[in-house]
Amino acid sequence: MAVNPDRIFDGLLGRISALVMAGGNRAAEAEAVAELDPRPHDRVLVVGFGPGVGLRLLAERLPEGHIAGIDPSAVMLRAATRRNRRAIAAGRMELHRGKADALPFPDADFDGVITVNTIQFWEPLEASVREVARVLRPGGRLVSHTHDWAITRTTGRDVETWARATAEVCLRAGLGSARHWRARAEKGKSVAFTARKPE
Ligand SMILES: C[S@@+](CC[C@H](N)C(=O)[O-])C[C@H]1O[C@@H](n2cnc3c(N)ncnc32)[C@H](O)[C@@H]1O
Repeated sequence: MAVNPDRIFDGLLGRISALVMAGGNRAAEAEAVAELDPRPHDRVLVVGFGPGVGLRLLAERLPEGHIAGIDPSAVMLRAATRRNRRAIAAGRMELHRGKADALPFPDADFDGVITVNTIQFWEPLEASVREVARVLRPGGRLVSHTHDWAITRTTGRDVETWARATAEVCLRAGLGSARHWRARAEKGKSVAFTARKPE
């Protein structure tokens, strides 16, 4: 992998990234939340929460629900904790340090999983998707939004090739009905991807 996420999202670079992403990726986070369209009492997991903007949008939409988040970066954990201190204090949100391939949650714990500008970093990808499939309830959905440039730069694949390969990985790992489309964020230069755990 050309980009090492452990370097760019922690330390000084991580603090700068957190500031830039909090503003620049807000539209993509909002679009992903709107696409998942959770019910007020749903349980939703955010993988790679970064500065925590998507978590906050979810907290506004889930007054009776529960939000969990996981991200390997200590810098992002601090930023997201600050941004979401009320929901955390109220016991409506829990944030963890860790990666997609080892999710510290029981089976079938979530109605939905959101990941924005992060799926391209999931390593190993199939083990990570398998974990997402494990923690989703039957019928629950994964929603991913990603800048086109981030997919190309990180995976070395064009977006169509990446989406087809990711759909195949999802199928092997326990998620079906995969589809992708042009997202509105980044003036249409980003891709939305979803897959569902079979009932
Ligand atoms: C480009 S940032 C996106 C953050 C936020 N979702 C946004 O769009 O602003 C990618 C995030 O994914 C996290 N990350 C990297 N590898 C990961 C993995 N394997 N599992 C979960 N999160 C990961 C990074 O620490 C970082 O916070």
